[in-house]
Amino acid sequence: MVVNRAIEDAIRSRSSRLPGFYQLTAAKRRATVARWAGLAPGESALLDCGLDGARADAMIENVIGCFQLPVGIATNFTIDGRDVLVPMAVEEPSVVAAASHGALMARRGGGFTSGSDEPVMIGQVQVLDLPGGDLDSAAAAVEAIRADILVTADAGSESLPRLGGGAKGLEVRRFAATPAGPMLVVHLLYDTRDAMGANAVNTACEAVAPLIAAATGGRVLMRILSNLTDRRKAWAECRVPAAALGRDGFIGADVARGIVAANALAVVDPYRAATHNKGILNGIDPVVIATGNDWRGVEAGAHAYAARDGAYRSLTDWRIDAASGDLVGRLELPLALGTVGGGTRSHPLAAVCLKILDVRGARDLAEVAVCVGLAQNLSALRALVAEGIQTGHMALHARQLALAAGASGEAAARIAEQLVAEGIIKVTRARELVGAVG
Ligand code: MEV
Repeated sequence: MVVNRAIEDAIRSRSSRLPGFYQLTAAKRRATVARWAGLAPGESALLDCGLDGARADAMIENVIGCFQLPVGIATNFTIDGRDVLVPMAVEEPSVVAAASHGALMARRGGGFTSGSDEPVMIGQVQVLDLPGGDLDSAAAAVEAIRADILVTADAGSESLPRLGGGAKGLEVRRFAATPAGPMLVVHLLYDTRDAMGANAVNTACEAVAPLIAAATGGRVLMRILSNLTDRRKAWAECRVPAAALGRDGFIGADVARGIVAANALAVVDPYRAATHNKGILNGIDPVVIATGNDWRGVEAGAHAYAARDGAYRSLTDWRIDAASGDLVGRLELPLALGTVGGGTRSHPLAAVCLKILDVRGARDLAEVAVCVGLAQNLSALRALVAEGIQTGHMALHARQLALAAGASGEAAARIAEQLVAEGIIKVTRARELVGAVG
């Protein structure tokens, strides 16, 4: 099926710049992405009908049905010189459009660069009731059996140590005064390679707990991973020429200064930081969901990291490069994502979305997700400091109303424009307009 010349060219050159993609029907978009990403017919069919009952029943308990979310494709992403189409599963209108718009602005400056830490998770073993409450002696006792602990932690997994993962270190933390008395917490640093790794870390913590209890004479209580995965961060940067930010009478350099000032409020004010960071997660969570990963863990880690110095702050940094006038952005956060195990394999759509992303492994996936977070934040801040967020929202909302009222294609676009022009963004008016056209 030839869609249009520009899209055909994009498919051939594997460019994420897909002009007019948003104007296609869902079926044509699906066919386009299937060809772009080389999906087999069965894989693209999954995108159409999603999760079947039997699979869902095997995934969680007490299943009575499926709750489906739309999967959209964010376009225009160039990440470390590679074009990527990004599947996003989300209920909120305008998120996919905003990510694509942010990526387009960043593309004018060469796209995103990204990086990530080794995939090292932290498992916590909590030790109470230490003899005489002596934290220093207990810590020394753990240090003395460090090698045994690491060997025991690795014994539970056949594959991870062979792949270069497994136990990488220990940290002993002392809490002298807690409501439950003095306690020691042993951090097991555990590399889970391409898995998110919750099961592997928890298993390793449970395996080493008896050794720690015996060495310290204390009582081990909890053995569980930390979602503040600050050993496993991902970061993204972009450089946006000021001219790429100007539109509809707004001067690019003014918008760039506005974005820096908007970010500054999120650095000093938790009320704004919460909304600012929510906007970043608007980009990250849908990628996490589409790939079958644990978005609650990502959210918990992101917010804890945002408060790491005692005050809750913005996760991004935006500044203007004095020499070029370019707007330069950076986002860094803990991002424990997997491309093997868990929902990434048990949900059939997750495997398809990973194939569309064409990522080499978990670090690669985290690097894409963090770039989407930065794109989303760029797009939100650009709108907030220029025309305001509602203009774009309302235009999309009007299009949805036009579609809901029965219009399609060109007619839907015209009706949406009229709704916006009249300032009456209501389905009743959309129906009247559809009636007049039909
Ligand atoms: C809405 O879902 C997200 C924004 O509020 C983010 C922000 O204010 O930066 C637009």
